[in-house]
Amino acid sequence: MTYSDGMLKEGALKGKTILITGGGTGLGKSMGTYFSELGANLVITSRKLEVLQKTAEEIHAKTGNQVLPVECDVREYEQVEKVIEQSKKQFGQVDVLLNNAAGNFISPTERLSHRAFDTVVDIVLKGSYNFTLAMGKSWIGDEHPGNILSIVTTYAWTGSGYVVPSAAAKAGVLAMTRSLAVEWARYGIRCNAIAPGPFPTKGAWDRLLPGNLKAKFDPANKVPVGRVGEHQELANLASYLVSDYSAYVNGEVITIDGGEWLKGAGEFNQLDQVPEELWDAMELSRKGGTKMKMMWLYLRGMLKMRRK
Ligand code: HXC
Ligand code: NAP
Repeated sequence: MTYSDGMLKEGALKGKTILITGGGTGLGKSMGTYFSELGANLVITSRKLEVLQKTAEEIHAKTGNQVLPVECDVREYEQVEKVIEQSKKQFGQVDVLLNNAAGNFISPTERLSHRAFDTVVDIVLKGSYNFTLAMGKSWIGDEHPGNILSIVTTYAWTGSGYVVPSAAAKAGVLAMTRSLAVEWARYGIRCNAIAPGPFPTKGAWDRLLPGNLKAKFDPANKVPVGRVGEHQELANLASYLVSDYSAYVNGEVITIDGGEWLKGAGEFNQLDQVPEELWDAMELSRKGGTKMKMMWLYLRGMLKMRRK
């Protein structure tokens, strides 16, 4: 058994209908595929119907379960309401909302137009609250329990330069998650979030590491466990959170990043760049070793560090 294996019991999501925004590509597609393998019906939605249809066919062919593709721009409330209406018409009810759609790009903030700022905030924050509000009203009106899972990022709480609209919007999604977890618990609605570290997808990689930035800033180098995430790992965590196994988890954000954000946060964590020879030299100096030996270790250590 490894981290790239599915984790939940067969049929763990049978009978559930899960609505995934941005479900046609990347992580939304991977999570959806696993939910479907576990027995769920899916509604996948985004702006590109052709992409959604192709994904729906692929997933259905793999699992035999139903996947409804519906075109919708998450920024448009009326379109959002229509997706929910169509989902209920097809499946009777929606049980889980996965807020996954996002827009992002890197740029020094002062170079952004106000429209560029709007674009990202509207997709991420407005898109998430549009779906959350419409779904919440529907569940409360129908006296049906619900479950909302939102995909945020670790910079929702640390902030990050060069992706400021995304950071501001994801922070808003996290605040909404924690607020509604308390307010809507009385209606049987749970709200949680996942904060993934780097998981390779075309959407994120092409926009956040364009051109030769991929080679220069290999995301794996920032992760203490030394690698990027595998989609199945995220799908496992998401499946747990959308399932009834996690009925007592509410208002939580779970980080899945191999320790990446903490590595950036810890004052002395960059000392992992210090080679053994330099630690040896420092230890010898404390213990009163010979000057020659210390110098030799020091020089070797410095050379190694420069080569890194
Ligand atoms: C600066 C940019 C820009 C860029 C667009 N704009 N791209 N500004 N740098 N790279 C500006 C445009 O000039 C325009 O402003 C405004 O933004 C709207 O641009 P449009 O192209 O008209 O927007 P739209 O067609 O709605 O496309 C949205 C998008 C696009 C966000 C720009 O990239 C997209 O569709 N993204 C969806 C998928 C995505 O981004 N996935 C990655 C998620 S990754 P003006 O002033 O000219 O009108 C993620 C991971 C984070 O979130 C964590 C990783 C570890
Ligand atoms: P992705 O494949 O680009 O997914 C983004 C999805 O959002 C696309 O399917 C896109 O479809 C949809 N979308 C964008 N604008 C939309 C709009 N206005 N209306 C409806 N749908 C819209 O990227 P991803 O990496 O899988 O990202 C998925 C989620 O994970 C995002 O929330 C992202 O912030 C988060 N995340 C990713 C990483 C990572 O390393 N990959 C790390 C942390 C967090 P259309 O273009 O068809 O609309």
